[in-house]
Amino acid sequence: MADAVATPTFYPAPAVTRTAPVGTVEHPLPLIIDSDPGLDDALAIGLAVARPEINLLAVTTVGGNADVRHCTTNALRLLNVYGARDVPVAEGSAGALFGSVVRATEIHGEAGIGNTVLPESPVAARAEGAVDLIAGILRKHPEPVVIAPIGPLTNIALLLRLHPELASRIAHICLMGGSIGDGNTTVSAEFNVYADPEAAAIVFESGLPITMMGLDVTHQATLHPPAGARLRELGTRSGSVAAELVAYALEREGQWYGTPRMAVHDAVAIAHLAIADLVAVAAYDVQVDTGSGPARGRTVCDGLARRVERKGRTLNAQVGIRIDRERFEDILVDAYRRLP
Ligand code: RIB
Ligand code: CA
Repeated sequence: MADAVATPTFYPAPAVTRTAPVGTVEHPLPLIIDSDPGLDDALAIGLAVARPEINLLAVTTVGGNADVRHCTTNALRLLNVYGARDVPVAEGSAGALFGSVVRATEIHGEAGIGNTVLPESPVAARAEGAVDLIAGILRKHPEPVVIAPIGPLTNIALLLRLHPELASRIAHICLMGGSIGDGNTTVSAEFNVYADPEAAAIVFESGLPITMMGLDVTHQATLHPPAGARLRELGTRSGSVAAELVAYALEREGQWYGTPRMAVHDAVAIAHLAIADLVAVAAYDVQVDTGSGPARGRTVCDGLARRVERKGRTLNAQVGIRIDRERFEDILVDAYRRLP
């Protein structure tokens, strides 16, 4: 996809070679997902469980799409449905470091997964909480671990502040959030960053290697009614849960915007870690607006290297700019074909 370029107002940043590691079947990527399940989070977690290139070490939760208690229950129950209840779940922050609580229940439903009711999981969340569970894994795992935050970045900011010595045990942060262009929650800001801009700023200024799958690429990763049918036709428990979640998202989008379409934002961050050439990325300097004005939560993305250098900053993140939608849908359906 060498021809992929981001198309911000005037400076098209060219695609570059990815820096995010990618797992292989022989050497699955050790991964922790921090999430706010969440319709698209649910599909992202299913993808991570299904792909042999990923070794899912834990799922932690943060308040975002729904209250964190719902997100934790959803994570436990989804992993149980996916046949992965051995993956530990721990609950993190209920809300942002500063500012009011931001939710997306109008999109994901009060309990975070539409009208879907999943069977109870026989497994409880870990008592130690999200930050301590992640810190413990980072300390013990034999190699540095990739973290995929797909909700507000509060837990990751707290991890970096409480355990700065563990930053070297984080191989890469591949997050869903932000955007080069317009936001979705406000015209300036994408939901995950808008929900906790201060936490996002801590992460982007951390110096850690970051891949940002923002709305520019995740809005290309859409499912439409035929995809829901493909998932349902799998005839499996996981396939029917996924089909139900997609149907709920399609129905709402259809009502609101006239086109039944679901952007599976979070699954793009996970797919990038399992498939080397699915997403094209470009290098940017990403700064988060933590002000109180109309641009609060905006990820200010500068792809003009000369200007970035002049500011004494660096290109601190790779940002997703292109994905092949059909291939993405096939990868998602194939993943659910592998689940029980
Ligand atoms: O803006 C999209 C993001 O906000 C996704 O992570 C979705 O789950 C919501 O949390
Ligand atoms: Ca999410």
